[in-house]
Amino acid sequence: MINLAILSAKGGTGKTTLAIALAHQYALANPKREILLVDADNQGNVAISLNLHSENTLGAFLYRATDTIDTVRYRPEIPFYVLESGRLHLYEAEKRIYEYPQPTHYFRDHLLQEFDPASLVIWDLPPTLSIINDNVLAIADYIVIPTHTDYLSLTGITNLLAYLEHFRARHQVRCRLLGIAITLHREHVNQNRQNRESLQQAFDGLLFEHAIPLSTAIATTAQNHLTPLEAADPRAREAYQGLVREIHQRMMNCQE
Ligand SMILES: Nc1ncnc2c1ncn2[C@@H]1O[C@H](COP(=O)(O)OP(=O)(O)OP(=O)(O)O)[C@@H](O)[C@H]1O
Ligand SMILES: [Mg+2]
Repeated sequence: MINLAILSAKGGTGKTTLAIALAHQYALANPKREILLVDADNQGNVAISLNLHSENTLGAFLYRATDTIDTVRYRPEIPFYVLESGRLHLYEAEKRIYEYPQPTHYFRDHLLQEFDPASLVIWDLPPTLSIINDNVLAIADYIVIPTHTDYLSLTGITNLLAYLEHFRARHQVRCRLLGIAITLHREHVNQNRQNRESLQQAFDGLLFEHAIPLSTAIATTAQNHLTPLEAADPRAREAYQGLVREIHQRMMNCQE
């Protein structure tokens, strides 16, 4: 099993959009491997975006309202599976996790055994530093941080890297930061361009080269219940394909 966490301590940075794009492209490229997209955010945006519904969700399982989990296939021809968050159940379950003697390792001890050992699990995380994020960091092999190129997003990355260091110092974890992905960029805005250069300089080697442009076609995928790889504009689709390929390449380089 490989666990890939899409992490950011800031809201609206493109975590869900990137997680869905990754699941879609990985599923097409690896038809023999189970690709599971887990929505670990109580906003439940993956299921809302893809118009999926199930009973035995992540939240229901963690809350012990059920002892099985349902994974729902996105489409017959696009074979990735989604484990829904369960929203209120997940919100309530989060409080219960603190009662466990080792709250950070609840997923490792009580959830991972439910997943196919050969699967690639992509985690869409909430925009807060929380026990859910800690649980996923404790099991993650790889992390990708999505960001925009506005000023507050840049400061958010610095805070997030400090949190990662703090987490690593306290726990024995194997997670590797694959890189920082620009999920919304306005090349014609001077400040955005400068911020991209600053990111490049500050995090040399971490920033992925492909940056996703601001795109109405991407902004409307959620309400049209499509993935970014099904966006109406081919430039938007190609931008996401390029970014996912680059993320995959870095993952492969880490495994060598
Ligand atoms: N490149 C883009 N161009 C235009 N809109 C985008 C782009 N990428 C994402 N969006 C839109 O921005 C909004 C936030 O994206 P998304 O939900 O993926 O972020 P998030 O980090 O998961 O948010 P949250 O922190 O609330 O979970 C969504 O409405 C999405 O459709
Ligand atoms: Mg989200």
